[in-house]
Amino acid sequence: MRIVLLGPPGVGKGTQAAKLVERYGIPHISTGDALREAVQKGTEIGLKAKSYMERGVLVPDEVVIGIIRERLAQPDCEKGFILDGFPRTVNQAEALDDILRSMGTDLDAVLYITAPDHVIVERLSGRRICRRCGRVYHLITMPPKKDGICDVCGGELYQREDDRPEAITKRLQVYREQTAPLVDYYRGKGKLAEIDGSKSVDEVFSQIVGALEGKR
Ligand code: AP5
Repeated sequence: MRIVLLGPPGVGKGTQAAKLVERYGIPHISTGDALREAVQKGTEIGLKAKSYMERGVLVPDEVVIGIIRERLAQPDCEKGFILDGFPRTVNQAEALDDILRSMGTDLDAVLYITAPDHVIVERLSGRRICRRCGRVYHLITMPPKKDGICDVCGGELYQREDDRPEAITKRLQVYREQTAPLVDYYRGKGKLAEIDGSKSVDEVFSQIVGALEGKR
């Protein structure tokens, strides 16, 4: 199954991707995670991406398209994949079409997850992430058992630089201007399934499975 998770920052794409990996056993490819790892390691891509990410604006298309082209060529993507945070511009969507065409394949579904802005702001401002294993928490809806400590590995929880109020506002603006046009792009191709992301994690997942299994 070849899936794109499309939706505003903080709507729950990463949370749902983790559940999809468990159910379908296909890899989760997040350009945000790949870029954060590059920043942390101080690679050439990381050095280029850092200031864009901290400001909440998009990293240049050629950087992320390169990451995706390389990743989709790996053997574990042959059975399918979940793209999270890519594509984010029409240019990236066209590049993805070209890559998939050259592989003789196509997307099965684009899951468009939505929620009102106030829900998104609450989710992003309360998000905490484990520095060691990457598990995602929320201070109110999914708190760790012990303040500031990961339940799974005991690692320290931190707040992403771009989950601070000024960056959240910018990310929502960038989403509206550059990513929202992809909704019409994929609707026009008959690939779009709309998912109400304001519900609980399990309810959102049921809607997703319903949309995907209706397509099989
Ligand atoms: P990226 O990492 O992709 O961030 P994003 O799209 O803004 O998405 P998030 O990771 O913030 O949110 P999410 O939807 O995954 O939500 P989550 O599941 O964590 O991108 C970061 C930056 O990298 C960009 O700004 C850009 O600079 C760069 N970048 C990345 N890709 C790029 C590209 N293709 N082109 C150019 N630049 C790119 O959930 C959020 C919180 O809510 C969590 O605390 C979670 O526990 C909680 N939660 C989730 N679901 C629910 C629920 N149903 N109920 C209650 N709480 C919930």
